[in-house]
Amino acid sequence: INIGARSGASVESAMPSPIAPSAASITIRRPDDWHVHLRDGHLLAACAVHTARQFGRAIIMPNLVPPVTKVAEASAYRERIRAAVPKDLRFEPLMTCYLTDGADPAELTRGKAEGVWVAAKLYPAHATTNSAHGVTSMDRVAKGLEAMEKAGMPLLVHGEVTDPDVDIFDREAVFLDKVLAPLLKRHPGLKIVLEHITTREGVAFVEAHPGRLGGTITPHHLSYNRNAIFKGGIRPHFYCLPIAKREEHRLALRRAATSDSTQFFLGTDTAPHTTDTKECACGCAGVFNAPVAMQVYAQIFAEEGKLDRLEAFASLNGPAFYGLPPNEERVTLRAATLDAPDHIDVPALAKIITVFRPDTPVDWSF
Ligand code: NCD
Ligand code: ZN
Repeated sequence: INIGARSGASVESAMPSPIAPSAASITIRRPDDWHVHLRDGHLLAACAVHTARQFGRAIIMPNLVPPVTKVAEASAYRERIRAAVPKDLRFEPLMTCYLTDGADPAELTRGKAEGVWVAAKLYPAHATTNSAHGVTSMDRVAKGLEAMEKAGMPLLVHGEVTDPDVDIFDREAVFLDKVLAPLLKRHPGLKIVLEHITTREGVAFVEAHPGRLGGTITPHHLSYNRNAIFKGGIRPHFYCLPIAKREEHRLALRRAATSDSTQFFLGTDTAPHTTDTKECACGCAGVFNAPVAMQVYAQIFAEEGKLDRLEAFASLNGPAFYGLPPNEERVTLRAATLDAPDHIDVPALAKIITVFRPDTPVDWSF
């Protein structure tokens, strides 16, 4: 990587190490986003460009209505995504299979062999947006998971239990003990990504399983704790699942993301919902952060004095986990006032989508 100095040194004549935490620009390999909701139809048309502008590749979440469970559906969806991305942007959608009870092992193996599936996604039934068809018991996907172990296909996990008796702020930690630990034992060859981790327990669990577990971390969970959801009133644009936790957990996430560990990598969980469906009596869960994702990550790494770790988190650790080469193209982020819209339009629906903005300043542009 190359980090320019605040004095305005060009990228080519970057400062020698140690790298100044106040760097004015940073050049890294083009990052990838390992957890994205692009939706379909009019929302896809409005949102795809924002992810494709920042990222070379993205793991596409399959929680459409109905969910993407068949190889043919994923191929067709991949074509719709490609068609929604402007021609001048090079962007590769990486498709995932939505696991349902009784998931067909042959469909998983075939889709992997044909280069359609990159991974499969486990949503515990009713854990989050569009998860009604999710898995009700791990026994019911055991055959599918065995096929994935053999095929070398990672499992991506929404790590929350759905038992209404478990407090919403405890659902991730309980999932680790009750579901994930037994799953690792039962499928010793399965590689797993614990997605959008939100707790220090999640961080510790990933770290305890090197070689088997990766963890993605979102820009919003690095930016605010649960107080932000209620500051001065209820603020639906800070509501997502898993829900933000206490400050100690946010600090654990910041330490993990900026650490030397190769197990943590970038996954925005950008999850667009039109503003009217967020600002209502029962607002949807999801934060739309695609237009500001890299700017916010750069802000966090700069605040931690760890800009030199940004490339590993954003551009190297994810590809290494998935056995893919990193992107060759380079991109530059600059220290400058954030230049991003506060909403995007969905013209065909005459609606808007509110763009995530932390309460703290973001002084990076991309
Ligand atoms: C996601 C969505 O809207 O699809 N929502 C969210 O709050 N993150 C689903 C998910 O990833 O849980
Ligand atoms: Zn998600």
